[in-house]
Amino acid sequence: MEVIVDADNQIETWQEVTLVYNAALKQINTKLEILNDEFQHVHQYNPIEHIKSRIKTSESIVKKLKRNGYESDIENMVKYVNDIAGIRIICSFTSDIYRIAEMIRLQNDIHVIAVKDYIRNPKPSGYKSYHMLVTVPVFLSDRTVDVKVEIQIRTVAMDFWASLEHKIKYKFEGNAPEHVKNELIECSKMVSELDNKMQKLNEEIKELSGT
Ligand code: GTP
Ligand code: MG
Repeated sequence: MEVIVDADNQIETWQEVTLVYNAALKQINTKLEILNDEFQHVHQYNPIEHIKSRIKTSESIVKKLKRNGYESDIENMVKYVNDIAGIRIICSFTSDIYRIAEMIRLQNDIHVIAVKDYIRNPKPSGYKSYHMLVTVPVFLSDRTVDVKVEIQIRTVAMDFWASLEHKIKYKFEGNAPEHVKNELIECSKMVSELDNKMQKLNEEIKELSGT
């Protein structure tokens, strides 16, 4: 992935990292809540089922830097680790994913750095999700910092699949037996089928009920 230097050494200590990335998560969470409320007001419907957010632990940041051949200092963390702040948005339907992504894109102060659409192009593992890497400005007392946040948007079914796959990968330390991997690919196809059927059914219901 393209690496963006966004903070120009403005973040200097681990405490500052935590503070600034937590602030970025708060900003995005609030934006999402507002969008969801507005959507409910206009369409009587919530596109977002729930939201999870997390700050990457210092241990896994250091591990990631090491894996990619970088020394562990604050500058490299900010420069090269794109998922220090992560938000996962879970929706009911695939169409909601693209609707939410568009709403995020339209926010004036959010800058989209990269998008990976693993729904249109699933990973070989069967992984499906829509990823956006964005920056959001965090206003501190003496300066503004553009902070990177990784946003993952997926359906409940995609999330169910990803949690099980993650657990399996962890258990087998990445070397799951071939038949388990194949079953997971099979399940991923079933997830797509289920998501498609549910979306069609939902559209049919909407038409029939005139909403
Ligand atoms: P990292 O995976 O973070 O090193 O960066 P990347 O450039 O490969 O980004 P990518 O968008 O592929 O993945 C980012 C995140 O998506 C990961 O940290 C996971 O949370 C999730 N993810 C990506 N691939 C998979 C997968 O095959 N299975 C599961 N369960 N999650 C995945
Ligand atoms: Mg990856």
